[in-house]
Amino acid sequence: MNEYILSLINTLFESHSMTLEQYRALIDARCVATAALLAEKAAAVRKSIYGNNVYVRGLIEVSNICKNDCLYCGIRRSNRNCDRYRLSKEQIMECAAEGYRLGFRTFVLQGGEDTYYTDDVLCDIVTDIKSQYPDCAVTLSMGERSRESYASLRMAGADRYLLRHETADKVHYESLHPVEMSFDNRMRCLHDLRELGYQVGCGVMVGSPNQTAETLAEDLKFIEEFKPDMCGIGPFVPHKDTPFRDHPAGTVELTCYLLSIIRLIHPPVLLPATTALGTIHPEGREMGIQSGANVVMPNLSPVSVRKKYELYDNKICTGEESAQCKDCLSARMESVGYRIVTDRGDIKK
Ligand code: SAM
Ligand code: FES
Repeated sequence: MNEYILSLINTLFESHSMTLEQYRALIDARCVATAALLAEKAAAVRKSIYGNNVYVRGLIEVSNICKNDCLYCGIRRSNRNCDRYRLSKEQIMECAAEGYRLGFRTFVLQGGEDTYYTDDVLCDIVTDIKSQYPDCAVTLSMGERSRESYASLRMAGADRYLLRHETADKVHYESLHPVEMSFDNRMRCLHDLRELGYQVGCGVMVGSPNQTAETLAEDLKFIEEFKPDMCGIGPFVPHKDTPFRDHPAGTVELTCYLLSIIRLIHPPVLLPATTALGTIHPEGREMGIQSGANVVMPNLSPVSVRKKYELYDNKICTGEESAQCKDCLSARMESVGYRIVTDRGDIKK
């Protein structure tokens, strides 16, 4: 590692900010030694804020019906081979009850952009979860909606919202999405959510088609400026029924490298070691935690629908019961010196 790269890492560690050019240089300088140094600093920073605690979020995949046609996504509307489902409110409440018993204090409701989930339907579900489990946080990840819709859901009690920006480069964004979707609307959503008082999560897929060191540098600059409360960074994994079926998956190395950089950019950020990372490597989630992540999201969806929420090929955890997933992740975290805690797991600012 040369002096220049070492000085960049120190700049990042001390000032949490770099120029686009510096981010690009740091990405291009990726090697075993740079990755190890970044991971060591990221782990120390994370430890100073969160100790050895890892937060868990119970992920409930409410529907795989989607009006969008994102080119990378296995549940895109043009995929005729996707066996569609939608959970009833009762099923969602059962998942939450099971999650609560297992010690989860955050529920993430994620789904395709299914028009069945009008504001009335979704607000009703959020209100019920919050009234039955007032000590829990509700996170929504239901895609792009109007500002009014986000305001109603917030009023109903939703605490957090995950909406990956996917890429901070408009041209790159347009290469991943059909013409009817717009980069500007994605950004509008993120800013509305922030203004409405949500804890907001953005994020990208690592190794998505047409991604370059330049577009990743733009992502890092965006994260530096937006300062998200949460940031979903996971590898792109191809799905056999999408236009990107032949594109290679992102790598564990680059994903972990970016997790470390993001921890240094925004020390308190809640950073999951994603299921996609566990899919491309058997110890991917452990490696993510060791690189600076501090959140895991075991699946709470009914086992009967798990396989159907297939965003990418060979997704893990589709056969296990929720309790098995929770136990499996606890053991995995302990194997690398961390522990899962029963906590809402809000960002520590
Ligand atoms: N509809 C909501 C939205 O757009 O935010 C939530 C569901 S969407 C499937 C959740 C995330 O899955 C996306 O933001 C995307 O980054 C990720 N995803 C989709 N297809 C993927 C793939 N092939 N590999 C890895 N991640 C993928
Ligand atoms: Fe689901 Fe290991 S986390 S089986």
